[in-house]
Amino acid sequence: MILSRSRASRKAAPAPAGGDGQRLVPRHVAIIMDGNGRWAKARHLPRLAGHRAGAEAVRRTLRAASKLGIECVTLYAFSSENWKRPEQEVADLTGLMKQFLRAELDELHAGNIRLRIIGDHRAFEPEAAAMLDAAMEKTAGNDGSTLVVALNYGSQDELARAMRALGEQVKAGMLDPAQITPETIAAQLDTADLPPLDLLVRTSGEVRLSNFLLWQAAYAELYFTDTLWPDFDEAALAAAVEAYARRERRYGGL
Ligand code: FPP
Repeated sequence: MILSRSRASRKAAPAPAGGDGQRLVPRHVAIIMDGNGRWAKARHLPRLAGHRAGAEAVRRTLRAASKLGIECVTLYAFSSENWKRPEQEVADLTGLMKQFLRAELDELHAGNIRLRIIGDHRAFEPEAAAMLDAAMEKTAGNDGSTLVVALNYGSQDELARAMRALGEQVKAGMLDPAQITPETIAAQLDTADLPPLDLLVRTSGEVRLSNFLLWQAAYAELYFTDTLWPDFDEAALAAAVEAYARRERRYGGL
């Protein structure tokens, strides 16, 4: 069972607010799940074992996020640069994604979770792409919380696609370039219908964004932990959320 929230409870629980109105629980948490390979290497196991343990960490984390009342979780599962990995590893990651859908889709749906993909999942092999489409279609009407999986996703590619779409509108005479604002750009991004990103977590001690949600992270709180992704659990997520709650978000103001 991935999520404890029942369909009957519908919307994610409202997060308690701090004295100044700032929420203590982020609405939208994104995670760069890093360190599967190092986790496996430390155990003299093949990289696939690390990815398998990573998939277990995904299940644990979604359960924990649900308990905390986090409305939206975005997971960086496969970047547009990950195609550079050996063919076998790409196949293994695709296989794990399919296994995850087979095992968890009914639970996600019963938990009133909507699945969204950002990036271009059509680049994956046809069966995987079709399974993802079917999963999104099945859960499209769910309004409890949202699980976003970034697949074949790169933030610069997402921004280039958005710019091309706006350029087409300008070319067609439907949009005056003077009307292009941060809001019109955000509306073209894959994340247009998601809550603003509050907290971005990266595991494994690396301190970079790796082409993930560059626009959306403009005012997100960043949290880096040395924990390798396969070891990430409820306590690790709670620690990230506690760190977030202690931060003072000023959005450029005083
Ligand atoms: C980074 O670790 C992790 C990935 C590139 C893939 C993430 C995939 C999963 C957690 C499993 C399946 C996902 C879902 C949503 C079911 P790395 O291989 O770069 O680790 P390293 O830097 O230690 O080598």
